[in-house]
Amino acid sequence: MNSRIPDPSKPVIAILTTSDRLKQFRGNRNNFRDIIRTGREMGYMVYVITVRDLKLNEQTVTGYVPSASGKLWYAIPVPLPQVIYNRIPNREEEEKAPVARKIAECLEHPEISLYNPSFFNKWNLFEWLKESKATSRHVPKTRRLRSAATLTAMLKNHESLYLKPEKGKAGKGIMRLGYRPDTLLPYRLQIQSGKKNTTYKAASVERLWARIGREKGSARYIVQQAIVLAGHHGRPFDLRVLLQKNGRGAWAVTGIGARLAGARSITTHVPRGGSIEDPSSMLEGTFGPEQAEVILKNVSTTALLVARQIERASSSMLGEMSMDLGVDEEGGVWFFEANSRPMKFDEPAIRKLSLERIFQYGNHLSRQSK
Ligand SMILES: Nc1ncnc2c1ncn2[C@@H]1O[C@H](COP(=O)(O)OP(=O)(O)O)[C@@H](O)[C@H]1O
Ligand SMILES: [Mg+2]
Repeated sequence: MNSRIPDPSKPVIAILTTSDRLKQFRGNRNNFRDIIRTGREMGYMVYVITVRDLKLNEQTVTGYVPSASGKLWYAIPVPLPQVIYNRIPNREEEEKAPVARKIAECLEHPEISLYNPSFFNKWNLFEWLKESKATSRHVPKTRRLRSAATLTAMLKNHESLYLKPEKGKAGKGIMRLGYRPDTLLPYRLQIQSGKKNTTYKAASVERLWARIGREKGSARYIVQQAIVLAGHHGRPFDLRVLLQKNGRGAWAVTGIGARLAGARSITTHVPRGGSIEDPSSMLEGTFGPEQAEVILKNVSTTALLVARQIERASSSMLGEMSMDLGVDEEGGVWFFEANSRPMKFDEPAIRKLSLERIFQYGNHLSRQSK
């Protein structure tokens, strides 16, 4: 692996994850390897550290670095970091007491900066965005799903609804509900499982509610107005925006990708048959080149407004997030969700800048007094 002597004027950066009995540590190893390679090329000392090994009252701790081939990971002694890039892999890990305690200790530590302390909850996001006028206009009507009455009430105003777990990701557990009053079985529930999509039809809201209950189990759900998305050859697409803080500590759009839904899929996720596309060409299909450019600019502006509002309302220090935004047939921009542990973007230009920004922002953080 391409190495360079770390520049002592630059902060030591640690990628934080949790330990694993068999594999040393959890998380996406390819991603960690790319981050470390980029950091080294930029003159930073950077390593992976587990919650267990991050002992805040010691001078030297154990970190992991990849071997030259990148296939193995060595445990080596390293100095404590100044900046922690939080990559705790999932909510279950994050909610464990020792993990939560360690994050809290890092947040209080006078010489360490940790950003993105936790995952977002979908309901909180909508509450936060409704608080500001500038962002509330981009938020679909959303309520907590507690009873069948919520569905009945929302179906009065919206033809179709999305039902989503508050802690969901990658399309898991998402359902879409439609209502056709003039048919025998007016309620139509589409349930996504893997690449397939099953439809359940019900005569009454009671029957429907029972079916939804079986599907969602004890998980908390939100219910949301379905936005009729602009399409490309009959398939809806949405936009995935990566936002990061730059070397001056200001929010910036690192890149925008488009995801086109798979045939008959109710979401655009790649593992569910969706595909990666170029945002401009997706928008040009419906809106033409001039209008497409205006919409894409508006997507960036909206994403920046949303990121600032999320950060303000969450009262935590954030340095990056990805955002799923939809564009309706009139060119309106809608917020679907934001994720505080963005998955890697496969578009090469976005990927490259996203890796560099981790260090540019880390450097900025280390120059701020806490
Ligand atoms: N209200 C909505 N209207 C139209 N499409 C939606 C709506 N909510 C979600 N979707 C579609 O489903 C996808 C997944 O929803 P999202 O909220 O991002 O859940 P997940 O956390 O599972 O990714 C979105 O990217 C979008 O394509
Ligand atoms: Mg999503």
